Amino acid sequence: MAGLENLKNRFIMAPIKTGYSDGTGIVTDKHLAFYGERAASLGALTPEPLYMDRGLREIPTQIGIDSDDKIEGLKKLTDLLHSTDTKAIAHLNHPGRMANPKIPGNYFISSTDRACENGGATPKRMTEEDMTSVVEMFVSSAKRAEAAGFDFVELQFGHGYLLAQFLSPAVNDRGDKYGGSFENRVRFPLRVFDAVKEAIALPIIVRISGEEMTPDGIRLGETIRLVKLLEERGVSALHVVAGSACSTPPWFFQHMFVQKGKTWEFAREIKSNVSIPVIFVGRINTFDDIDRLFEEYGADYLAVGRALVADPSFVSTYIGGAKGRVKPCLSCSEGCLGGVKSGEGLHCVVNPTVGENELMGKDLFKGVEKPKRIAVVGGGLAGMEVALDLKRKGHSVTLYERDKLGGQFNLAPLPPNKESLSKLIDFYSWSLRDSGIKIINREAREEDLVDGSYNTVILATGSKPVIPPIEGLKNYFWAEILEDQNIVSNKKVLVIGGGLIGVEVANKLLKRNNKVIIVEMLDEIARGMEMIEKALTLKNLKENDVEIYTGWLVSKVERGKVYIKNKEGKEKFFEDVDHIVVATGMRSYNPLEEKIKGKVEYYVIGDAKKVGKAQNAIKDAFDLAIRL
Ligand SMILES: Cc1cc2nc3c(=O)[nH]c(=O)nc-3n(C[C@H](O)[C@H](O)[C@H](O)COP(=O)(O)O)c2cc1C
Ligand code: SF4
Repeated sequence: MAGLENLKNRFIMAPIKTGYSDGTGIVTDKHLAFYGERAASLGALTPEPLYMDRGLREIPTQIGIDSDDKIEGLKKLTDLLHSTDTKAIAHLNHPGRMANPKIPGNYFISSTDRACENGGATPKRMTEEDMTSVVEMFVSSAKRAEAAGFDFVELQFGHGYLLAQFLSPAVNDRGDKYGGSFENRVRFPLRVFDAVKEAIALPIIVRISGEEMTPDGIRLGETIRLVKLLEERGVSALHVVAGSACSTPPWFFQHMFVQKGKTWEFAREIKSNVSIPVIFVGRINTFDDIDRLFEEYGADYLAVGRALVADPSFVSTYIGGAKGRVKPCLSCSEGCLGGVKSGEGLHCVVNPTVGENELMGKDLFKGVEKPKRIAVVGGGLAGMEVALDLKRKGHSVTLYERDKLGGQFNLAPLPPNKESLSKLIDFYSWSLRDSGIKIINREAREEDLVDGSYNTVILATGSKPVIPPIEGLKNYFWAEILEDQNIVSNKKVLVIGGGLIGVEVANKLLKRNNKVIIVEMLDEIARGMEMIEKALTLKNLKENDVEIYTGWLVSKVERGKVYIKNKEGKEKFFEDVDHIVVATGMRSYNPLEEKIKGKVEYYVIGDAKKVGKAQNAIKDAFDLAIRL
């Protein structure tokens, strides 16, 4: 039985739901393009978790392994991986009570009859017969994986899914031989393991949460006891994660708001207790991380997820097989998790090809026949992206930026826990420096653009804040209050606008001991914020007694007093307000278009065209670059 030692290197792609199937559960060309672009540099790749029963899907567009008609498609996938000597890992998961309640026909079973406290359907408490049928389901799925050419089966024992629902003292409330003591709680998961082991010749990896990151959930001590039992039973390797889909999704998804490296500590501790290989995972997204894991943590294997979504060449560049700088994963979860949850499928904030059929796996940067002289006005995300892409295609590019490269995105890393976003500006700045693109550090004037120096002009001048016409509103900050030189402490601050920026500003102000009030005209705050971030940020605002007024408008400002009004005409005022922050949205800033119209070919991109998020700006820029 060949184990992980036969991999061509020590890098594995972690299982990430893509949402690229068409509802039939069959592997599509989109899967092949996505995985094909990433496979060659990896020792092994784990495609997304494969559903074992149609009624147990987590997303409607998941790949299935529930019936023999899926084998042909799965075989295409394993053949593709094998064509680059990359091993294929079939990740089998029973979600139990965490199956998606919004998918018609889904059913819910668990160790308990209690629903997850954060949402989800109420499950049926499993009987012995249910357990037997789950064991059979794992066995028949594992056999199909073997028939489809997979090299390993990975069983999900962690992340708060069914087997963890038995292991976890926080969830398992049974009084029979499957609940209570450690020996009882591991009984059913071990039965599944034994049955699969018996049924197939493939080596088995077990994915397990070192801890569920709740005081009453699975703790490391018990996890270590369990992995020793698994080792005795012949598990081939362990893959150590953290968290639970029910109670601690930020840990499950390794969001930027949680501490990096916690999963690595669990893996190291587990590794010191067994003699089988351990796979380390979780926010491995820089070359320093890789070095540290191999050198300091003694990691055997590394599983990488989002860094490979953000840049398929992350591992090959590390190994030295590919040239160029790596586009950084920001651990934002916005395009990937956000895309999957919204039903659009896996996308990525920084990588505009992900999730796009016509772009994935294609060579989009073939040299152009007739290079143009192109001026890009504005060095925000859209401007920098388009400049780099055009240069890569062989055009001659000049970039005008009057201030700092990065534009408004320079404010993005300033709210608490968002430092990782600065990696994107670093990436663009370094890449621009390496590229030989000429950067002119001043505002572009009409005459610069229309005097014949350029064949094409791209306007990427971004957006400016909207300042509402409020009587008496004269002195105020905008989001630049986040900058060190502007931030205030121990003051009373009223934030007008509870959208994404207003809420982030409020969150940062709290750290400086300010008393914060948010007034939002709509009935919802933090609209458009990535969902994990939203949940954690709103929790923090609540715990810190931020006063939030939704459905209210600021009507007047008068000597330290701020008056607000609601739809019913009710009025209120706040006294002794030291500062006001206006965060009522942005509007396009595009002063040059009128001036150059008819005089030179031009395009408008990013916020200057339509105000949006970072992902929209980068995608818009990329789409234009591949057309030119
Ligand atoms: C969009 C998305 C979907 C995921 N789906 C699953 C899943 O279904 N099962 C699972 O065990 N892990 C899942 N993961 C977690 C990854 O396997 C991995 O553990 C996590 O992303 C941390 O690794 P990374 O920081 O390298 O991305 C998912 C991650 C993302 C971003
Ligand atoms: S969307 Fe964000 S977290 Fe997800 S892969 Fe892209 S950069 Fe990383």
